[in-house]
Amino acid sequence: MSDEARLLSAEANGEEEESLRPATLEEYIGQDALKENLRIFIQAALQRNESLDHVLLYGPPGLGKTTLSYILAHEMHTNIRTASGPSIEKPGDLAAILSILEPGDVLFIDEIHRLPKVVEEVLYPAMEDFCIDVIVGKEAGSRSVRLDLPPFTLVGATTRAGDLSSPLRDRFGIVSKLEYYNHDQLASIVRRTARVLGVVIEEPAVYEIARRSRGTPRIANRLLRRIRDFAQVLNHGVISESVAKDALERLHVDSLGLDEVDLRYLRGIIERFRGGPVGLEALANSISEETTTLEDVYEPYLIQIGFVNRTSRGRVATEKAYQHLGMSRPGSQTTLF
Ligand code: ADE
Repeated sequence: MSDEARLLSAEANGEEEESLRPATLEEYIGQDALKENLRIFIQAALQRNESLDHVLLYGPPGLGKTTLSYILAHEMHTNIRTASGPSIEKPGDLAAILSILEPGDVLFIDEIHRLPKVVEEVLYPAMEDFCIDVIVGKEAGSRSVRLDLPPFTLVGATTRAGDLSSPLRDRFGIVSKLEYYNHDQLASIVRRTARVLGVVIEEPAVYEIARRSRGTPRIANRLLRRIRDFAQVLNHGVISESVAKDALERLHVDSLGLDEVDLRYLRGIIERFRGGPVGLEALANSISEETTTLEDVYEPYLIQIGFVNRTSRGRVATEKAYQHLGMSRPGSQTTLF
């Protein structure tokens, strides 16, 4: 595989995923305020015959940042190239990617907060002035040559906007946060995906999945695919409420969509640290998970549903978390004195 092919890896999804992904803003469900703004920016750029300004999309994983960037390219009638922060190791890697862009192309960089600093510095003039400085020649004979690039749109995606350096963040003209989806929006996504997959699903099952998807379309679609397997083998392919509930139980997804890691996290705070406050590091060690996984993937939803508070002294489990686990908070019964 050539360097460019390696760096610009196609999505590792099969063809099915391609059609599951909505192609237009019209088809994209949820994120209404963000969608409306993007619609305006796209129309304005098209009217002026310009490329769309650079876009930074941030928010928890699975909410549709990649999908939206494909839609932006589609709506702008351009091509998309994709890469990820950690895969661009050297300035030369970025130069290779930038040098094959065509006018108006979208360059999508996932996990842009993981771009090495030396690469970031090449990106600044590329974003601002559509040019890069490359070093040619060796040692004493080396010199810097300025290369012009076609106008392009950088779409950066990150779960950690706070980890972006401010010079990089400031170069995005459009900065948007993706929010968790509500149950009605997730239900619409489940219905749409079921239609694309050609699977029959009864309405109570749609809502069962929506309620247990942690506000996240990627989880809703993943659960739907697994439940489809159970329905196919056990129920002639029809996803009824009882098949869905049975499958979700077998998949260890609880009534709120919490999985084994969520539950270990909550039990960890409650059982090993008396409900907190506990520092993230100590908690992660005690349940053998990476701090970044907990911070990026698990905590945002547990905080959103009010099960965990992040305080200056550490993480604290709330009364709601105790109730969900059927446990009582130490001190909630007056046992001392
Ligand atoms: N599939 C995944 N996310 C989606 C969304 N927001 N709208 C429609 N289909 C989706």
